Amino acid sequence: MSVIIDIYRDDSAERLKKIPDNSVDLIVTSPPYADQRKKTYGGIHPDRYVEWFLPISAELLRVLKPTGTFILNIKEKVVNGERSIYVMQLILAMRQQGWIWTEEFIWHKKNSYPGKWPNRFRDSWERLLQFNKEKKFNMYQEEVMVPMGDWAKSRLKNLSEIDKSRDNSKVGSGFGKNISNWINRDKAYPTNVLHLATECNNKNHSAAFPEELPEWFIKLFTREGDCVLDPFMGSGTTLLVAKRMNRNAIGIEIIPEYCEMVSERLDVEIKE
Ligand SMILES: C[S@@+](CC[C@H](N)C(=O)[O-])C[C@H]1O[C@@H](n2cnc3c(N)ncnc32)[C@H](O)[C@@H]1O
Repeated sequence: MSVIIDIYRDDSAERLKKIPDNSVDLIVTSPPYADQRKKTYGGIHPDRYVEWFLPISAELLRVLKPTGTFILNIKEKVVNGERSIYVMQLILAMRQQGWIWTEEFIWHKKNSYPGKWPNRFRDSWERLLQFNKEKKFNMYQEEVMVPMGDWAKSRLKNLSEIDKSRDNSKVGSGFGKNISNWINRDKAYPTNVLHLATECNNKNHSAAFPEELPEWFIKLFTREGDCVLDPFMGSGTTLLVAKRMNRNAIGIEIIPEYCEMVSERLDVEIKE
């Protein structure tokens, strides 16, 4: 199957305006964090982060199909001994903008090394915020099922009476469970915690995704031939994986060296 991969050397705020309405199935991205890694590719002051991001998220809302999903990898840092609150402010502002904040996945960085801080412990997780345009969106849950493993041997061995019938949520979340349904099954649905090692092999970009990260969301939210967008492409991990999985992809990156690197990696011309 042949797919179209477009990489643009441009500022996302500008380039996104040229992408047609309702044309993208999945956005997976990790924008520059507030003030972090200032020396490598610029940072935005935490107090101005929401103001900087909102025009970009407005364009993302326009280009995403009503059935599509936006996964935003972000984590507030500690400033003067306190967590910044710009991610929370951003979520509230994006809801005002028209986004539905559907879910928050946690990326547990399972290989983070130990350290010592006077008033906290090693930070070993990041947020993967899921936003949608509509409450009904494409989601192919069977594609990310995991082996039952030890759960089958322990939890399913001693079932209570309540486990044997459907136990509906008392708070109206729509969640109900009938634990006995899972006996003798090989696979279960995963949780919203992704245990992935950080990418140490990619020496050309200091904040590259592990390939499994975009891969998991591409499997969960798209089919072959769908379109995946990363407006902060970096070393192009999202595009590389999308291409391998027969998805069309669009990447935007402001730094020419990164664009050239992606162009070589994917054997695709850079567009201006
Ligand atoms: C956290 S990195 C993304 C890393 C990427 N997920 C990967 O796997 O390599 C963010 C990227 O956004 C780029 N960037 C920053 N501001 C941008 C803008 N306004 N438009 C496009 N790209 C931008 C940076 O140069 C950087 O490479």
